[in-house]
Amino acid sequence: MRIVGLRKRYREVVAVDGIDLEVAVGELVSLLGPNGAGKSTLMDLIAGVLRADAGEVEVMGHAVARQPMAARAALGVVPQDIALYPDLNARENLLFWGRMYGLRGERLERRTGELLDLVGLAGRQRDRVGTYSGGMKRRLNIAAALLHRPAVLMLDEPTVGIDPQSRRAILDYVQELNATGTTVLYTTHYMEEAAELSDRIAILDRGRVIALGTHRELTAIVGEHDRVTLELGDDAADADAAFVDLPGVHHVSAHDGRLELLASHGARLLPALFARAAERGIAVRSATLRQPDLESVFLHLTGRALRDDRA
Ligand SMILES: Nc1ncnc2c1ncn2[C@@H]1O[C@H](COP(=O)(O)OP(=O)(O)OP(=O)(O)O)[C@@H](O)[C@H]1O
Ligand SMILES: [Mg+2]
Repeated sequence: MRIVGLRKRYREVVAVDGIDLEVAVGELVSLLGPNGAGKSTLMDLIAGVLRADAGEVEVMGHAVARQPMAARAALGVVPQDIALYPDLNARENLLFWGRMYGLRGERLERRTGELLDLVGLAGRQRDRVGTYSGGMKRRLNIAAALLHRPAVLMLDEPTVGIDPQSRRAILDYVQELNATGTTVLYTTHYMEEAAELSDRIAILDRGRVIALGTHRELTAIVGEHDRVTLELGDDAADADAAFVDLPGVHHVSAHDGRLELLASHGARLLPALFARAAERGIAVRSATLRQPDLESVFLHLTGRALRDDRA
């Protein structure tokens, strides 16, 4: 898959701001970015459901703008919003989507059976999808995207808001599919998933790829800085100001009742952090010290946390 100079704006918001990205055949690339980074817009542009303002996308050598049918045939899309009929059962949903892809008869029946097995829903295939849990719906949505055996599979945050077993199962199918030759573009805002799955990770922020590489290459950007997380509860909101000037602290960001700090020699910094917290009357519930990870990379590059909802 090849993306060159891709742009899309919605009135005043530039959702995709000049993206270049190549994904090799058989590669698994994650798009990691916070809310509003442009992940879903990028996927819609690749899928050809949105028209780009500029730039080009090729899927398996087919230009999405000029050869939409061929590009679409090569692509399986698992959208962020579930696209299933709640009044039909799992089998009927797959038969419906299969016919949309031009599959018929015995071939469609066989493929439907295979995919129900793959996503562990064979036993529930006669139940209305409206009665399924979120995780079951997600798994069925993945099966629907695989009916036509696409060479490239794109998934948009497929594990958000579902139970841990379904999440694990989804990560496993994605890895299996990739191991058997499917090229995968996997969108997420969970750095653990990107770290586990990917050959390479593209970090997306405000419509741009701000970093691209293997997990090792990306964490090397941060260098020797550790990440320190302080759980503060209700005190977190304005507490970042209390720590920014400590020697060795490079970034501080507050969100969800916690502070994330990037610091050289995090272990040496801890006593100073606790002393400062005590001085300012800030109660620390817990402190965690970590080696550089993708969250640190994002913090380092943007000064914000990946899950910072205020950004
Ligand atoms: N249909 C639309 N009309 C106007 N603005 C839009 C539309 N769709 C997306 N945007 C804006 O474009 C930007 C990128 O949105 P997009 O949905 O692509 O982000 P995302 O990375 O998928 O976020 P999330 O993690 O929340 O799914 C955001 O600022 C969003 O508000
Ligand atoms: Mg999205």
